[in-house]
Amino acid sequence: MINKINTLAEEIKALTASTAEEVEAIRLKYLSKKGVISSLMNDFRTVPAEQKREIGQLLNQLKTVANDKFAALKESLASGADAAHSEIDLTRSATPAHFGTRHPLSIVKNEIFEIFGAMGFTIAEGPEIEDDWHVFSSLNFPPDHPARDMQDTFFISRHPQDILLRTHTSSVQTRTMEATRPPIRIICPGRVYRNEAISARAHCFFHQVEGLYIDKNVSFADLKQCLLYFAREMFGPETKIRLRPSYFPFTEPSAEMDISCHICGGKGCPFCKGTGWVEILGCGMVDPNVLEACGIDSKEYTGYAFGMGVERITNLKYRVKDLRLFSENDVRFLHEFDAAH
Ligand code: DAH
Repeated sequence: MINKINTLAEEIKALTASTAEEVEAIRLKYLSKKGVISSLMNDFRTVPAEQKREIGQLLNQLKTVANDKFAALKESLASGADAAHSEIDLTRSATPAHFGTRHPLSIVKNEIFEIFGAMGFTIAEGPEIEDDWHVFSSLNFPPDHPARDMQDTFFISRHPQDILLRTHTSSVQTRTMEATRPPIRIICPGRVYRNEAISARAHCFFHQVEGLYIDKNVSFADLKQCLLYFAREMFGPETKIRLRPSYFPFTEPSAEMDISCHICGGKGCPFCKGTGWVEILGCGMVDPNVLEACGIDSKEYTGYAFGMGVERITNLKYRVKDLRLFSENDVRFLHEFDAAH
């Protein structure tokens, strides 16, 4: 036993370790309850009485040697780590963080918010999954209107109630008119869905901004002035507008608005197909039937509404040739708009 203790003591003195794991392994092997020294302590019971004194002392010394070794290894590991820390150069600049850029549609949408915000419009939002009432019936769509056809609208369920993906943000008009009383002055941004074959010029979803103003004595002249201000802010002070008669179930009269082509200044170019004008939105005076459907007295109140596609406005401003680029998340495309916001 004496020999065993002495060899063990030599062995322990010679130990080295370069990682915390190695130090821990040493602790487990020699110092833990199931370790070598512990088992020698157990054997101590069988040592003859006359040797107990000498062996007991040797065992205690061995334990001290092991404890000291363990403490020394731990200490040198810690100071090694300190040395490593001190090599970190705190004056070096950090790895640069790469920020993303705002999406072109968001840039343009925010610009639209700013322009109408300055005229007192607030933002209203509504759900993308809608019911027939808010998308069609309340907006004066006759029951057999083609927009209700499966070929245009994505239906989620047909019975007992038609649930669908909204085809326009005009549904937010109805929701707001149902929930609040005039005066109402809102713009409603959001994504809309139509069952279109996807190509460079059409997608199954796009973004709209709807506008609605309801108050006493709102006239078509107010609508025209509001849209002229918008067009000039968005496309430059030289911009002219032109309203062409059109039809929407929810407005009467209805119009389509063109702006003078800001690429050729109205002279005619391939972009405006030689006409000098490009179409940007639909608008009109809110049909009395729509006001009544939402519980607003059409004899007391009148209003105007308009709706525009954000992709269309963005294309006009930045001439993006393929609509699909907006939803492909290609960072090379997105980075082209770095300077725009
Ligand atoms: N909802 C129409 C569409 O999706 C756009 C529109 C036209 C909205 C005229 C209006 C409006 O509020 O008055 O094509």
